[in-house]
Amino acid sequence: MTVLALVQFSIATPICLFVASVIYNVFFHPLRHYPGPWLSAATKIPWYRALLTGDLSFYTQRIHEKYGDIVRISPNELSYITAGAWKDVYANRVNHTLLPKDEKFYHPPPGGAHSILTAPHEAHSRIRRLLSHAFSEKALRDQESLIKVYVDLLVQRLHEESNSKSASLDMVSWYNWTTFDIFGDLMFAEPFGCLDSASYHPWVDLLFKSIKAQTLANAAAHLGILPLLRRFPPKRLVETRLKHMSMTTEKVTKRLDLKTDRADFMGFILKHNDDEFAMSLPEIKSTSFGIIIAGSETTATLLSGTTYYLLKNPEKLAKLTKEVREAFHSEDEINLTSVNGLTYMLAVLDEGLRMYPPVPVGLPRRVPESGETIVGNFVPPNTVVSVNHWAAYRSPRNFSQPESFIPERWLDDTDFSDNKRVFQPFSTGPRACIGRNLAYVEMKLILARIVWNFDMEIDATSNDWANQKMFILWDKPPLLVRMTSRPDLQTLKYRSKNSEKV
Ligand code: HEM
Repeated sequence: MTVLALVQFSIATPICLFVASVIYNVFFHPLRHYPGPWLSAATKIPWYRALLTGDLSFYTQRIHEKYGDIVRISPNELSYITAGAWKDVYANRVNHTLLPKDEKFYHPPPGGAHSILTAPHEAHSRIRRLLSHAFSEKALRDQESLIKVYVDLLVQRLHEESNSKSASLDMVSWYNWTTFDIFGDLMFAEPFGCLDSASYHPWVDLLFKSIKAQTLANAAAHLGILPLLRRFPPKRLVETRLKHMSMTTEKVTKRLDLKTDRADFMGFILKHNDDEFAMSLPEIKSTSFGIIIAGSETTATLLSGTTYYLLKNPEKLAKLTKEVREAFHSEDEINLTSVNGLTYMLAVLDEGLRMYPPVPVGLPRRVPESGETIVGNFVPPNTVVSVNHWAAYRSPRNFSQPESFIPERWLDDTDFSDNKRVFQPFSTGPRACIGRNLAYVEMKLILARIVWNFDMEIDATSNDWANQKMFILWDKPPLLVRMTSRPDLQTLKYRSKNSEKV
């Protein structure tokens, strides 16, 4: 064979294979009858493009708007936005196996063990049973005092900062610093010190970098080059990862050596880590890492998004402010139990979860070899299926005025004819969020204390804040807010701290 023929052959072969796969995907693939754009059925290129440009859920939403409730978003993947799909995709059903998580999305750290988030079902049940003690009602009550320390500190620091600087404050950072300090304490028995220093601790900083890298890893997994990437990884990525792992090991070891009976997460893991449900040390490390992301980033994101939508809808903010300031005689009355009486607060948070779900993507499951029936239709083996949070909650098929922030839709005495059963921001089934109750308590406590203490106004530079990309999670810019301490609330507690500073 001449060199020219060899070159022609090596160019022609991939082209022929590509054309053949396009013809197969469009005309012969078992998913060919599902609706969706021709190009998305033919190749995965539009999907990769959307993933890598932070557009995946918006792209999915556009396809749903045009083609309906069940759509083919790539040759091998279906997306759903109906209430019934939650049960079929994520929950246990009689005579059906629970669909496994798609391993191309949920990979453990290389060389690391599975965490509760990534583990296959059997290991997952063991880890979840062990962890469930840390998320019981009683545990939550015991953890309240730990959480309160950081909510107090947030309020104090915001009073100091807002009184000493005329500039607006970035509430994305302040919420992140609070929730990471809380979860650092709940997991490692020491905060990250973010609130004190008004900056990101290197561990948290590295964590955000690794979340973005996860999008790249997902694309690599789908292209089949993840093992190659792991064999020859970019130098900077390796350094970041090694640094992060050694910092995590150091923190876990330090906490394990601590002789204490604190009601924190690690305390519960150690107390119940008996032979039957024991977690290995690498599992403890991976899970502590996973819980800190799952717990802190999500709650800070929801608080940021809800604050933004309240500021853009001043009449809703005024209504919430009235509810909070009239419900209590003093700030000390705001606690885990009393915040549950705030009905408009709950409606505001639920509307925040609908408009700006902290997990905005479809969490993928893979159909097993037997195939599966999903919302009445047979789905062939190996198909990736999910309900896309963003697309489901913004669809006019499910919600009236889906683009408007209307907390009232969640109140009992109003009728918006919304399809509320499709709203599952914490997912459903055995792999649903284990921290849901903790999340609500934490978000209510923080938002109530902010609204009690401050009058807020959005800085004009953040007017378009919600116009963001998402790389699995939201890529949030700063949310600049003018915070003013309530003039009628210059309590001694805060005034004395401020007067030292000013
Ligand atoms: C607004 C806040 C939150 C939202 C919207 C949220 C949402 C979710 C969702 C959608 C899942 C399912 C993930 C999947 O299927 O892969 C999940 C799982 C999980 N969440 Fe949350 N979450 C929040 C807060 C929290 C908090 C405060 C914690 C506390 C530690 C937490 C811990 C977890 C854990 C450990 C899992 C894995 C559960 C399992 O696989 O058994 N989350 N969360």
